[in-house]
Amino acid sequence: MKEPTAKPSRPYFSSGPCAKRPGWSVDALSSAFVGRSHRSQPGKARLAEVIERSRALLGIPNDYRVGIVPASDTGAVEMVLWSVLGARGVDMLAWESFGAGWVTDVLQQLKLADVRRIEADYGSLPELAQVSPERDVVFTWNGTTSGVCVPNADWISAERKGLTICDATSAVFAMPLPWAKLDVATWSWQKVLGGEAAHGMLVLSPRAVERLESYTPPWPLPKLFRLTKKGKLMEDVFKGSTINTPSMLCVEDALDSLRWAESIGGAPGLIERSKKNLSVIAAWVEKTDWVDFLARDPATRSSTSICLSIVDPWFQALPKEAQAAHVKKLTGLLDKKGVAFDIASYVDAPPGLRIWGGSTVESTDLEALTPWLDWAYAETRAAG
Ligand SMILES: Cc1ncc(COP(=O)(O)O)c(C=O)c1O
Repeated sequence: MKEPTAKPSRPYFSSGPCAKRPGWSVDALSSAFVGRSHRSQPGKARLAEVIERSRALLGIPNDYRVGIVPASDTGAVEMVLWSVLGARGVDMLAWESFGAGWVTDVLQQLKLADVRRIEADYGSLPELAQVSPERDVVFTWNGTTSGVCVPNADWISAERKGLTICDATSAVFAMPLPWAKLDVATWSWQKVLGGEAAHGMLVLSPRAVERLESYTPPWPLPKLFRLTKKGKLMEDVFKGSTINTPSMLCVEDALDSLRWAESIGGAPGLIERSKKNLSVIAAWVEKTDWVDFLARDPATRSSTSICLSIVDPWFQALPKEAQAAHVKKLTGLLDKKGVAFDIASYVDAPPGLRIWGGSTVESTDLEALTPWLDWAYAETRAAG
């Protein structure tokens, strides 16, 4: 097979940190509020601006709190698990490694007694109908390492008693989220927005606030996790007074990506771009016999973390370590050619490819990438 000539203009297809927005350069940070206190009036105003622009873009209801918290998405998820769980039984959903990580935390760290594990293997969703409206539920909207997402929230009861806690980091901005069905949602800036990691976003419904104010967990909570003071929500956290010191460079970058998102049509524009990216890959998978989606049901296919299996019988017959080694060769070749960075599947996932199709990626770059995938697979297959 002849080596393609046209290369993606931006070979950035990592699933996190993800590609910066088109046209980004460090100049976007030139008016960052650095060297000043984040607690000064203008500092707090920048933080509040991130909160309000995010709320407006995503259509988050006015009675929901939106806050900036430490330690990226993980920090946002952990502070909630530690703060609200234990008041009721909890259904823990997992179908790939990030969801599985939350299950491990709840079982082995919090050591909760009443936990139901509702799980599925890579490529599938668990039986969502098993989730009880009487119980809390923790789930990942988009399983970043399997490329399987929940297709909707129809399985969440509008009359639920428990809280729904959703790790939405690789879904939000690229997939519509039904806020009325989510009591807690979390994300970081480093995914669909192409921002920087370090800080997490935390959304709380009024019912989540009610839980925080009425329930005190029996375990100690470090300062970084504390969302209440004397039994009341720390409202200031949701107005830009962060728990500890944020990076105002990251804040400036987040503002830049939010402004870009507004300029391309807001959430519908972002969602459309990601959908288009998935359609480019889907059209290529359709006509390509050596790959298929890891997600079995097309309705659950992620448009952001697009995970592909290598279904060539020769590859399938290899032991798992040899498969992983082959993927390394394939992705190493693409990296060397400067056409795709960071597209090997996640270490815990079945060996294959994972290509980010979030909104900061240009569909034309994915179109340019697919001939290179065919070429690199043929080259590395021939070499054995
Ligand atoms: C679903 C999911 N949850 C959590 C994380 C961890 O995010 P962070 O490293 O921003 O804390 C990731 C990162 O890829 C993710 O995809």
